[in-house]
Amino acid sequence: MHTCEQSIFIEGVWEPALSGSTLAVKSPADGETFNVISKGAKPEVDRAVAAARKALSGTWGTLAGFERGRVMCKLSALILENCVELAELEARDTGKPISQARTDIQSTARYFEFYAGAADKILGDVIPFLDGYQVMVHREPRGVCGMIIPWNYPASMFGRTIGPALATGNTVVLKPAEDASMSCIYLTKLAHEAGVPPGVLNLVTGLGEEAGAALSQHPGVDFLSFTGSSEVGTIIQTAAAMNHVPCVLELGGKSPQIVFADSDFERAAQTIVNVITQNAGQTCSAGSRVLVQQSIYDPFVELLKSKMSNVRVGAPSADLQCGPVINKTQQLKVQGFLDRAHTDGIEVLAQGSMDESAGPTGYFVRPTLLGPVPTTHELAQQEIFGPVLAVITFEDEAEAIAIANGTNYGLVAGVWTENGARQMRVAKKLRVGQVFINNYGAGGGIELPFGGVKRSGHGREKGLEALKEYTVTKTIVQKHD
Ligand code: NAI
Ligand code: MG
Repeated sequence: MHTCEQSIFIEGVWEPALSGSTLAVKSPADGETFNVISKGAKPEVDRAVAAARKALSGTWGTLAGFERGRVMCKLSALILENCVELAELEARDTGKPISQARTDIQSTARYFEFYAGAADKILGDVIPFLDGYQVMVHREPRGVCGMIIPWNYPASMFGRTIGPALATGNTVVLKPAEDASMSCIYLTKLAHEAGVPPGVLNLVTGLGEEAGAALSQHPGVDFLSFTGSSEVGTIIQTAAAMNHVPCVLELGGKSPQIVFADSDFERAAQTIVNVITQNAGQTCSAGSRVLVQQSIYDPFVELLKSKMSNVRVGAPSADLQCGPVINKTQQLKVQGFLDRAHTDGIEVLAQGSMDESAGPTGYFVRPTLLGPVPTTHELAQQEIFGPVLAVITFEDEAEAIAIANGTNYGLVAGVWTENGARQMRVAKKLRVGQVFINNYGAGGGIELPFGGVKRSGHGREKGLEALKEYTVTKTIVQKHD
Protein backbone atom coordinates (compact mmCIF):
# COMPACT_ATOMS: atom_id res chain seq x y z
CA MET A 1 0.00 0.00 0.00
CA HIS A 2 1.24 3.52 -0.79
CA THR A 3 2.18 5.91 2.02
CA CYS A 4 -0.71 7.65 3.67
CA GLU A 5 0.37 11.28 4.26
CA GLN A 6 -3.06 12.06 2.85
CA SER A 7 -5.20 9.91 5.12
CA ILE A 8 -7.87 12.47 5.93
CA PHE A 9 -11.00 12.08 3.84
CA ILE A 10 -13.43 15.01 3.74
CA GLU A 11 -16.26 15.40 1.24
CA GLY A 12 -14.80 12.79 -1.10
CA VAL A 13 -11.24 14.19 -1.16
CA TRP A 14 -8.04 12.76 0.41
CA GLU A 15 -5.94 15.39 2.15
CA PRO A 16 -2.98 15.83 4.46
CA ALA A 17 -3.38 17.60 7.82
CA LEU A 18 -3.42 21.39 7.55
CA SER A 19 -0.43 21.45 9.90
CA GLY A 20 1.44 19.04 7.63
CA SER A 21 2.07 16.76 10.66
CA THR A 22 2.10 13.00 10.40
CA LEU A 23 2.11 10.05 12.81
CA ALA A 24 4.30 6.96 12.40
CA VAL A 25 2.52 3.66 11.75
CA LYS A 26 4.32 0.82 13.53
CA SER A 27 4.08 -2.91 13.30
CA PRO A 28 3.70 -4.47 16.78
CA ALA A 29 5.55 -7.57 15.55
CA ASP A 30 8.90 -5.75 15.27
CA GLY A 31 8.32 -2.15 16.38
CA GLU A 32 9.29 -0.92 12.89
CA THR A 33 7.63 2.06 11.24
CA PHE A 34 6.10 0.94 7.96
CA ASN A 35 3.97 3.92 7.01
CA VAL A 36 2.77 7.35 8.12
CA ILE A 37 -0.69 8.85 8.48
CA SER A 38 -1.88 12.45 8.68
CA LYS A 39 -2.18 13.91 12.14
CA GLY A 40 -5.54 15.62 11.83
CA ALA A 41 -6.90 17.83 14.61
CA LYS A 42 -9.62 20.42 15.22
CA PRO A 43 -9.45 22.21 11.84
CA GLU A 44 -9.98 18.92 9.97
CA VAL A 45 -12.71 17.81 12.37
CA ASP A 46 -14.53 21.14 11.89
CA ARG A 47 -14.50 20.69 8.12
CA ALA A 48 -15.45 17.02 8.30
CA VAL A 49 -18.44 17.77 10.54
CA ALA A 50 -19.55 20.57 8.18
CA ALA A 51 -19.27 18.16 5.23
CA ALA A 52 -21.31 15.51 7.07
CA ARG A 53 -23.97 18.11 7.92
CA LYS A 54 -24.19 19.24 4.30
CA ALA A 55 -24.43 15.63 3.05
CA LEU A 56 -27.44 14.96 5.31
CA SER A 57 -29.56 17.25 3.17
CA GLY A 58 -27.92 16.11 -0.09
CA THR A 59 -28.63 12.99 -2.14
CA TRP A 60 -28.06 10.66 0.85
CA GLY A 61 -30.99 12.21 2.70
CA THR A 62 -33.31 11.58 -0.26
CA LEU A 63 -32.25 8.03 -1.17
CA ALA A 64 -34.75 5.26 -0.50
CA GLY A 65 -33.67 2.67 2.05
CA PHE A 66 -33.16 0.01 -0.61
CA GLU A 67 -30.85 2.36 -2.52
CA ARG A 68 -28.68 2.90 0.56
CA GLY A 69 -28.81 -0.88 1.04
CA ARG A 70 -27.51 -1.47 -2.50
CA VAL A 71 -24.51 0.79 -1.92
CA MET A 72 -23.79 -1.11 1.30
CA CYS A 73 -24.12 -4.50 -0.45
CA LYS A 74 -21.58 -3.30 -2.98
CA LEU A 75 -19.25 -2.24 -0.17
CA SER A 76 -19.64 -5.65 1.45
CA ALA A 77 -18.72 -7.34 -1.85
CA LEU A 78 -15.69 -5.06 -2.33
CA ILE A 79 -14.48 -5.88 1.19
CA LEU A 80 -14.62 -9.60 0.39
CA GLU A 81 -12.83 -9.02 -2.94
CA ASN A 82 -10.08 -7.17 -1.08
CA CYS A 83 -10.02 -9.60 1.86
CA VAL A 84 -6.44 -10.81 1.35
CA GLU A 85 -4.94 -7.30 1.17
CA LEU A 86 -7.11 -5.99 4.00
CA ALA A 87 -6.26 -8.93 6.27
CA GLU A 88 -2.52 -8.52 5.62
CA LEU A 89 -2.74 -4.82 6.38
CA GLU A 90 -4.77 -5.42 9.55
CA ALA A 91 -2.34 -8.11 10.73
CA ARG A 92 0.65 -5.86 10.10
CA ASP A 93 -0.93 -2.84 11.78
CA THR A 94 -2.39 -4.59 14.86
CA GLY A 95 -0.07 -7.60 15.22
CA LYS A 96 -2.92 -10.11 15.16
CA PRO A 97 -2.30 -13.53 13.55
CA ILE A 98 -3.26 -13.52 9.89
CA SER A 99 -6.20 -15.95 10.21
CA GLN A 100 -7.68 -13.85 13.02
CA ALA A 101 -7.32 -10.78 10.77
CA ARG A 102 -9.04 -12.63 7.93
CA THR A 103 -11.96 -13.51 10.21
CA ASP A 104 -12.23 -9.84 11.21
CA ILE A 105 -12.38 -8.71 7.58
CA GLN A 106 -15.08 -11.27 6.86
CA SER A 107 -17.09 -9.98 9.79
CA THR A 108 -16.62 -6.41 8.50
CA ALA A 109 -18.20 -7.51 5.22
CA ARG A 110 -20.99 -9.24 7.15
CA TYR A 111 -21.82 -6.02 9.03
CA PHE A 112 -22.45 -4.19 5.76
CA GLU A 113 -24.41 -7.12 4.36
CA PHE A 114 -26.52 -7.44 7.51
CA TYR A 115 -27.31 -3.74 7.79
CA ALA A 116 -27.84 -3.39 4.02
CA GLY A 117 -30.69 -5.85 4.43
CA ALA A 118 -32.15 -3.73 7.22
CA ALA A 119 -31.91 -0.39 5.37
CA ASP A 120 -35.38 -0.71 3.80
CA LYS A 121 -36.99 -2.14 6.95
CA ILE A 122 -36.68 0.76 9.37
CA LEU A 123 -40.32 0.68 10.33
CA GLY A 124 -42.37 3.19 12.22
CA ASP A 125 -45.62 2.74 14.14
CA VAL A 126 -49.25 3.72 13.98
CA ILE A 127 -50.78 4.29 17.41
CA PRO A 128 -54.55 4.01 17.98
CA PHE A 129 -55.66 7.25 19.66
CA LEU A 130 -58.76 9.38 20.12
CA ASP A 131 -61.44 9.58 17.44
CA GLY A 132 -60.54 12.15 14.78
CA TYR A 133 -56.80 11.73 15.20
CA GLN A 134 -54.14 9.86 13.30
CA VAL A 135 -50.90 9.18 15.17
CA MET A 136 -47.73 8.01 13.43
CA VAL A 137 -44.31 7.39 14.89
CA HIS A 138 -41.52 7.91 12.37
CA ARG A 139 -37.97 6.72 12.86
CA GLU A 140 -35.51 9.31 11.61
CA PRO A 141 -31.73 9.34 11.42
CA ARG A 142 -29.87 10.98 14.33
CA GLY A 143 -27.94 13.18 11.91
CA VAL A 144 -24.16 13.60 12.06
CA CYS A 145 -22.61 10.68 13.95
CA GLY A 146 -19.14 10.99 15.51
CA MET A 147 -17.45 7.60 15.82
CA ILE A 148 -14.32 7.06 17.89
CA ILE A 149 -13.04 3.50 17.71
CA PRO A 150 -10.08 1.60 19.23
CA TRP A 151 -7.17 -0.36 17.79
CA ASN A 152 -8.06 -3.90 18.81
CA TYR A 153 -10.56 -4.67 16.01
CA PRO A 154 -10.36 -1.61 13.74
CA ALA A 155 -11.90 -3.10 10.60
CA SER A 156 -14.76 -4.86 12.30
CA MET A 157 -15.47 -1.79 14.48
CA PHE A 158 -15.69 0.18 11.22
CA GLY A 159 -18.46 -2.19 10.13
CA ARG A 160 -20.11 -2.32 13.54
CA THR A 161 -20.54 1.46 13.80
CA ILE A 162 -20.77 2.64 10.19
CA GLY A 163 -23.03 -0.22 9.03
CA PRO A 164 -26.06 0.71 11.17
CA ALA A 165 -25.35 4.45 10.83
CA LEU A 166 -25.49 4.36 7.02
CA ALA A 167 -28.41 1.93 6.91
CA THR A 168 -30.52 4.42 8.86
CA GLY A 169 -29.54 7.41 6.70
CA ASN A 170 -27.04 9.16 8.97
CA THR A 171 -23.75 10.74 7.94
CA VAL A 172 -20.48 10.01 9.72
CA VAL A 173 -17.18 11.43 10.88
CA LEU A 174 -14.87 8.59 11.94
CA LYS A 175 -11.79 9.01 14.13
CA PRO A 176 -9.90 5.70 14.13
CA ALA A 177 -7.27 4.85 16.76
CA GLU A 178 -3.82 6.34 16.19
CA ASP A 179 -2.35 2.88 16.81
CA ALA A 180 -4.29 1.20 14.01
CA SER A 181 -5.87 3.34 11.31
CA MET A 182 -4.71 1.57 8.16
CA SER A 183 -7.66 -0.74 7.55
CA CYS A 184 -10.10 2.14 8.20
CA ILE A 185 -8.32 4.19 5.49
CA TYR A 186 -8.57 1.25 3.08
CA LEU A 187 -12.24 0.63 3.95
CA THR A 188 -13.07 4.31 3.46
CA LYS A 189 -11.58 4.08 -0.05
CA LEU A 190 -13.76 1.05 -0.74
CA ALA A 191 -16.85 2.86 0.59
CA HIS A 192 -16.18 5.70 -1.83
CA GLU A 193 -15.72 3.21 -4.66
CA ALA A 194 -18.98 1.48 -3.69
CA GLY A 195 -20.86 4.75 -4.18
CA VAL A 196 -21.17 6.23 -0.68
CA PRO A 197 -21.60 9.89 -1.72
CA PRO A 198 -19.03 12.57 -0.78
CA GLY A 199 -19.53 13.91 2.75
CA VAL A 200 -21.52 10.89 3.95
CA LEU A 201 -18.46 9.15 5.39
CA ASN A 202 -15.56 11.35 6.47
CA LEU A 203 -12.37 10.12 8.10
CA VAL A 204 -10.03 12.12 10.31
CA THR A 205 -6.90 10.28 11.45
CA GLY A 206 -5.06 11.72 14.43
CA LEU A 207 -4.58 11.55 18.18
CA GLY A 208 -7.34 10.92 20.70
CA GLU A 209 -6.58 14.04 22.73
CA GLU A 210 -6.64 16.19 19.58
CA ALA A 211 -8.87 14.88 16.78
CA GLY A 212 -10.88 12.63 19.14
CA ALA A 213 -11.48 15.39 21.67
CA ALA A 214 -12.43 17.88 18.93
CA LEU A 215 -14.95 15.42 17.50
CA SER A 216 -16.55 14.50 20.82
CA GLN A 217 -16.89 18.18 21.83
CA HIS A 218 -18.14 19.41 18.47
CA PRO A 219 -21.52 21.15 18.71
CA GLY A 220 -22.33 20.04 15.15
CA VAL A 221 -22.34 16.34 16.09
CA ASP A 222 -25.75 14.80 16.89
CA PHE A 223 -24.68 11.41 18.24
CA LEU A 224 -21.47 9.85 19.55
CA SER A 225 -20.33 6.25 19.50
CA PHE A 226 -17.20 5.38 21.45
CA THR A 227 -15.42 2.10 22.07
CA GLY A 228 -12.33 2.08 24.27
CA SER A 229 -11.22 2.52 27.86
CA SER A 230 -13.65 3.36 30.67
CA GLU A 231 -11.49 6.43 31.49
CA VAL A 232 -11.87 7.94 28.03
CA GLY A 233 -15.53 6.82 28.08
CA THR A 234 -16.05 9.24 30.99
CA ILE A 235 -14.45 12.05 28.95
CA ILE A 236 -16.69 11.27 25.98
CA GLN A 237 -19.84 11.13 28.07
CA THR A 238 -18.93 14.45 29.69
CA ALA A 239 -18.47 16.01 26.24
CA ALA A 240 -21.81 14.51 25.13
CA ALA A 241 -23.49 15.99 28.19
CA MET A 242 -22.14 19.47 27.40
CA ASN A 243 -23.81 19.35 23.98
CA HIS A 244 -26.84 17.30 25.16
CA VAL A 245 -26.29 14.58 22.59
CA PRO A 246 -26.78 10.84 23.15
CA CYS A 247 -23.80 8.51 23.17
CA VAL A 248 -23.22 4.79 23.03
CA LEU A 249 -20.26 3.65 25.10
CA GLU A 250 -18.67 0.22 24.69
CA LEU A 251 -16.03 0.13 27.39
CA GLY A 252 -13.96 -2.49 29.11
CA GLY A 253 -14.76 -5.68 30.92
CA LYS A 254 -13.63 -8.26 33.45
CA SER A 255 -15.82 -10.99 32.11
CA PRO A 256 -16.19 -14.20 34.14
CA GLN A 257 -16.15 -17.77 32.86
CA ILE A 258 -18.06 -19.75 35.50
CA VAL A 259 -17.16 -23.44 35.50
CA PHE A 260 -19.38 -25.77 37.52
CA ALA A 261 -18.41 -29.29 38.58
CA ASP A 262 -20.85 -30.87 36.10
CA SER A 263 -19.50 -29.10 33.01
CA ASP A 264 -17.84 -30.57 29.93
CA PHE A 265 -14.26 -29.92 31.12
CA GLU A 266 -12.53 -30.43 27.81
CA ARG A 267 -14.79 -28.07 25.87
CA ALA A 268 -14.79 -25.45 28.64
CA ALA A 269 -11.01 -25.43 29.15
CA GLN A 270 -10.20 -25.26 25.45
CA THR A 271 -12.66 -22.45 24.77
CA ILE A 272 -11.58 -20.45 27.83
CA VAL A 273 -7.90 -20.55 26.80
CA ASN A 274 -8.72 -19.79 23.14
CA VAL A 275 -10.78 -16.77 24.13
CA ILE A 276 -8.19 -15.16 26.42
CA THR A 277 -5.34 -15.66 23.94
CA GLN A 278 -7.28 -14.57 20.84
CA ASN A 279 -6.08 -11.10 19.76
CA ALA A 280 -3.51 -11.42 22.58
CA GLY A 281 -6.30 -10.92 25.13
CA GLN A 282 -7.05 -7.43 23.81
CA THR A 283 -10.78 -7.93 23.49
CA CYS A 284 -13.28 -5.97 25.57
CA SER A 285 -15.35 -9.12 26.05
CA ALA A 286 -12.39 -11.43 26.80
CA GLY A 287 -13.22 -13.91 29.57
CA SER A 288 -10.33 -12.89 31.81
CA ARG A 289 -11.49 -14.51 35.08
CA VAL A 290 -12.19 -18.21 35.34
CA LEU A 291 -14.35 -19.07 38.34
CA VAL A 292 -13.78 -22.75 39.13
CA GLN A 293 -15.91 -24.74 41.56
CA GLN A 294 -13.71 -25.83 44.47
CA SER A 295 -14.61 -29.54 44.13
CA ILE A 296 -13.06 -29.73 40.62
CA TYR A 297 -10.17 -27.34 41.17
CA ASP A 298 -7.37 -29.86 40.67
CA PRO A 299 -8.54 -31.69 37.54
CA PHE A 300 -9.92 -28.59 35.84
CA VAL A 301 -6.92 -26.39 36.54
CA GLU A 302 -4.64 -29.22 35.30
CA LEU A 303 -6.51 -29.09 32.00
CA LEU A 304 -6.27 -25.27 31.82
CA LYS A 305 -2.53 -25.54 32.52
CA SER A 306 -1.91 -27.97 29.71
CA LYS A 307 -3.96 -25.89 27.24
CA MET A 308 -2.22 -22.66 28.25
CA SER A 309 1.23 -24.30 27.97
CA ASN A 310 0.36 -25.30 24.40
CA VAL A 311 -0.27 -21.73 23.26
CA ARG A 312 2.46 -20.44 20.95
CA VAL A 313 3.19 -16.75 20.55
CA GLY A 314 4.64 -15.35 17.35
CA ALA A 315 4.55 -12.87 14.49
CA PRO A 316 1.25 -12.41 12.60
CA SER A 317 2.68 -14.18 9.54
CA ALA A 318 3.50 -17.30 11.60
CA ASP A 319 -0.27 -17.50 12.22
CA LEU A 320 -0.11 -18.99 15.71
CA GLN A 321 -2.76 -18.67 18.38
CA CYS A 322 -1.33 -15.47 19.88
CA GLY A 323 0.45 -12.42 18.44
CA PRO A 324 2.07 -9.39 20.09
CA VAL A 325 0.11 -6.73 21.97
CA ILE A 326 -0.44 -3.39 20.26
CA ASN A 327 2.40 -1.21 21.59
CA LYS A 328 5.12 -0.78 24.20
CA THR A 329 2.73 0.91 26.65
CA GLN A 330 0.37 -2.06 26.52
CA GLN A 331 3.25 -4.53 26.86
CA LEU A 332 4.49 -2.68 29.97
CA LYS A 333 0.95 -2.49 31.34
CA VAL A 334 0.50 -6.26 31.09
CA GLN A 335 3.99 -6.93 32.46
CA GLY A 336 3.21 -4.61 35.38
CA PHE A 337 0.23 -6.80 36.36
CA LEU A 338 2.43 -9.92 36.18
CA ASP A 339 5.20 -8.28 38.26
CA ARG A 340 2.80 -7.15 40.96
CA ALA A 341 1.14 -10.59 41.04
CA HIS A 342 4.61 -12.07 41.66
CA THR A 343 5.26 -9.58 44.48
CA ASP A 344 1.88 -10.47 45.97
CA GLY A 345 2.79 -14.18 45.97
CA ILE A 346 0.27 -15.28 43.35
CA GLU A 347 1.47 -18.40 41.61
CA VAL A 348 2.06 -18.61 37.87
CA LEU A 349 0.33 -21.90 37.01
CA ALA A 350 1.30 -22.08 33.33
CA GLN A 351 2.64 -19.98 30.49
CA GLY A 352 2.59 -20.27 26.72
CA SER A 353 5.83 -20.33 24.76
CA MET A 354 7.53 -17.98 22.33
CA ASP A 355 7.97 -19.03 18.72
CA GLU A 356 11.21 -18.00 16.98
CA SER A 357 9.20 -15.49 14.94
CA ALA A 358 8.63 -13.51 18.16
CA GLY A 359 11.65 -11.23 17.85
CA PRO A 360 13.12 -9.09 20.64
CA THR A 361 11.81 -5.77 19.27
CA GLY A 362 8.19 -6.94 19.00
CA TYR A 363 5.66 -6.31 21.79
CA PHE A 364 5.24 -9.93 22.82
CA VAL A 365 3.86 -11.15 26.12
CA ARG A 366 3.74 -14.77 27.24
CA PRO A 367 0.15 -15.92 27.85
CA THR A 368 -0.13 -16.60 31.56
CA LEU A 369 -2.44 -18.53 33.87
CA LEU A 370 -2.35 -17.39 37.51
CA GLY A 371 -4.07 -18.57 40.64
CA PRO A 372 -5.70 -18.94 42.95
CA VAL A 373 -6.41 -15.21 42.91
CA PRO A 374 -8.30 -13.55 45.81
CA THR A 375 -11.46 -11.82 44.57
CA THR A 376 -10.26 -8.43 45.79
CA HIS A 377 -6.91 -8.60 43.98
CA GLU A 378 -6.38 -6.35 40.95
CA LEU A 379 -6.02 -9.47 38.75
CA ALA A 380 -9.63 -10.29 39.68
CA GLN A 381 -10.94 -6.72 39.38
CA GLN A 382 -9.15 -4.74 36.69
CA GLU A 383 -9.08 -5.01 32.93
CA ILE A 384 -5.57 -6.12 31.91
CA PHE A 385 -6.14 -6.29 28.14
CA GLY A 386 -3.54 -8.96 27.61
CA PRO A 387 -3.36 -12.79 27.50
CA VAL A 388 -3.62 -13.16 31.27
CA LEU A 389 -6.17 -15.46 32.90
CA ALA A 390 -6.91 -15.37 36.65
CA VAL A 391 -8.25 -18.50 38.36
CA ILE A 392 -10.70 -17.84 41.21
CA THR A 393 -12.50 -20.48 43.26
CA PHE A 394 -16.08 -20.72 44.50
CA GLU A 395 -18.03 -23.20 46.63
CA ASP A 396 -21.60 -22.99 45.33
CA GLU A 397 -23.90 -21.30 42.82
CA ALA A 398 -24.72 -18.34 45.05
CA GLU A 399 -21.06 -17.60 45.62
CA ALA A 400 -20.28 -17.93 41.91
CA ILE A 401 -22.96 -15.34 41.08
CA ALA A 402 -21.74 -12.98 43.78
CA ILE A 403 -18.14 -13.18 42.54
CA ALA A 404 -19.20 -12.87 38.90
CA ASN A 405 -21.16 -9.70 39.68
CA GLY A 406 -18.54 -8.41 42.10
CA THR A 407 -16.57 -6.07 39.83
CA ASN A 408 -17.26 -2.61 38.42
CA TYR A 409 -17.73 -4.12 34.98
CA GLY A 410 -20.61 -6.00 33.37
CA LEU A 411 -20.09 -6.92 29.74
CA VAL A 412 -20.19 -10.66 29.04
CA ALA A 413 -20.23 -13.93 31.01
CA GLY A 414 -19.72 -17.60 30.23
CA VAL A 415 -21.61 -20.30 32.14
CA TRP A 416 -20.35 -23.88 31.90
CA THR A 417 -22.69 -26.53 33.31
CA GLU A 418 -24.76 -29.42 31.95
CA ASN A 419 -27.60 -28.63 34.37
CA GLY A 420 -30.28 -26.88 32.31
CA ALA A 421 -32.13 -25.30 35.21
CA ARG A 422 -28.89 -23.94 36.63
CA GLN A 423 -27.89 -22.52 33.24
CA MET A 424 -30.97 -20.32 33.13
CA ARG A 425 -31.02 -19.47 36.86
CA VAL A 426 -27.45 -18.23 36.72
CA ALA A 427 -27.87 -16.44 33.38
CA LYS A 428 -30.80 -14.47 34.76
CA LYS A 429 -28.86 -13.31 37.80
CA LEU A 430 -25.75 -12.07 36.00
CA ARG A 431 -25.49 -8.30 35.52
CA VAL A 432 -24.01 -8.28 32.02
CA GLY A 433 -25.06 -7.58 28.43
CA GLN A 434 -24.50 -11.08 27.03
CA VAL A 435 -24.41 -14.56 28.60
CA PHE A 436 -22.97 -17.56 26.77
CA ILE A 437 -23.97 -21.02 27.97
CA ASN A 438 -21.48 -23.78 27.12
CA ASN A 439 -19.86 -21.58 24.48
CA TYR A 440 -18.31 -18.14 24.46
CA GLY A 441 -18.45 -15.28 21.98
CA ALA A 442 -20.30 -17.16 19.25
CA GLY A 443 -17.64 -16.14 16.73
CA GLY A 444 -18.45 -12.47 17.17
CA GLY A 445 -22.13 -12.94 16.21
CA ILE A 446 -22.87 -9.66 14.43
CA GLU A 447 -26.60 -10.46 14.69
CA LEU A 448 -26.47 -10.44 18.51
CA PRO A 449 -27.13 -7.22 20.47
CA PHE A 450 -24.00 -6.33 22.41
CA GLY A 451 -23.09 -3.85 25.14
CA GLY A 452 -22.54 -3.48 28.83
CA VAL A 453 -23.85 -2.31 32.16
CA LYS A 454 -21.93 -0.51 34.93
CA ARG A 455 -18.42 0.60 33.88
CA SER A 456 -18.67 -1.51 30.73
CA GLY A 457 -20.81 1.24 29.22
CA HIS A 458 -24.33 1.64 27.92
CA GLY A 459 -26.29 1.48 24.70
CA ARG A 460 -26.32 -1.47 22.33
CA GLU A 461 -24.46 -2.18 19.13
CA LYS A 462 -24.75 -5.12 16.73
CA GLY A 463 -27.93 -6.83 15.64
CA LEU A 464 -31.17 -5.00 14.88
CA GLU A 465 -30.95 -3.42 18.33
CA ALA A 466 -28.25 -1.01 17.07
CA LEU A 467 -30.76 0.49 14.64
CA LYS A 468 -32.62 1.97 17.60
CA GLU A 469 -29.47 3.81 18.73
CA TYR A 470 -28.88 5.33 15.30
CA THR A 471 -32.44 6.59 14.91
CA VAL A 472 -34.74 8.84 16.88
CA THR A 473 -38.53 8.76 16.85
CA LYS A 474 -40.79 11.59 15.81
CA THR A 475 -44.45 11.32 16.77
CA ILE A 476 -46.81 13.02 14.34
CA VAL A 477 -50.36 13.69 15.54
CA GLN A 478 -52.86 14.70 12.89
CA LYS A 479 -56.39 15.86 13.63
CA HIS A 480 -58.56 15.08 10.65
CA ASP A 481 -62.14 15.96 11.47
P1 NAI B 1 -8.27 4.69 24.60
O1 NAI B 1 -9.59 4.56 25.27
O2 NAI B 1 -7.40 5.84 24.98
O3 NAI B 1 -8.46 4.73 22.99
C1 NAI B 1 -9.64 4.41 22.29
C2 NAI B 1 -9.95 5.51 21.29
O4 NAI B 1 -10.22 6.72 21.98
C3 NAI B 1 -8.82 5.84 20.31
O5 NAI B 1 -9.36 6.13 19.03
C4 NAI B 1 -8.23 7.11 20.89
O6 NAI B 1 -7.61 7.92 19.92
C5 NAI B 1 -9.45 7.78 21.45
N1 NAI B 1 -9.20 8.75 22.52
C6 NAI B 1 -8.23 8.71 23.49
N2 NAI B 1 -8.31 9.78 24.28
C7 NAI B 1 -9.35 10.53 23.83
C8 NAI B 1 -9.95 11.77 24.23
N3 NAI B 1 -9.48 12.47 25.27
N4 NAI B 1 -11.02 12.22 23.55
C9 NAI B 1 -11.52 11.54 22.51
N5 NAI B 1 -10.99 10.39 22.06
C10 NAI B 1 -9.93 9.88 22.72
O7 NAI B 1 -7.49 3.33 24.83
P2 NAI B 1 -5.91 3.10 24.89
O8 NAI B 1 -5.24 4.24 25.62
O9 NAI B 1 -5.42 2.85 23.53
O10 NAI B 1 -5.82 1.77 25.75
C11 NAI B 1 -5.81 1.84 27.18
C12 NAI B 1 -6.65 0.76 27.79
O11 NAI B 1 -8.00 0.94 27.39
C13 NAI B 1 -6.33 -0.65 27.35
O12 NAI B 1 -5.27 -1.18 28.10
C14 NAI B 1 -7.62 -1.36 27.62
O13 NAI B 1 -7.72 -1.73 28.97
C15 NAI B 1 -8.67 -0.31 27.32
N6 NAI B 1 -9.24 -0.48 25.95
C16 NAI B 1 -10.43 -1.10 25.84
C17 NAI B 1 -10.96 -1.33 24.59
C18 NAI B 1 -12.26 -2.04 24.43
O14 NAI B 1 -12.53 -2.58 23.37
N7 NAI B 1 -13.10 -2.04 25.43
C19 NAI B 1 -10.28 -0.94 23.36
C20 NAI B 1 -9.04 -0.24 23.59
C21 NAI B 1 -8.55 -0.04 24.85
MG1 MG C 1 -5.51 6.27 25.90
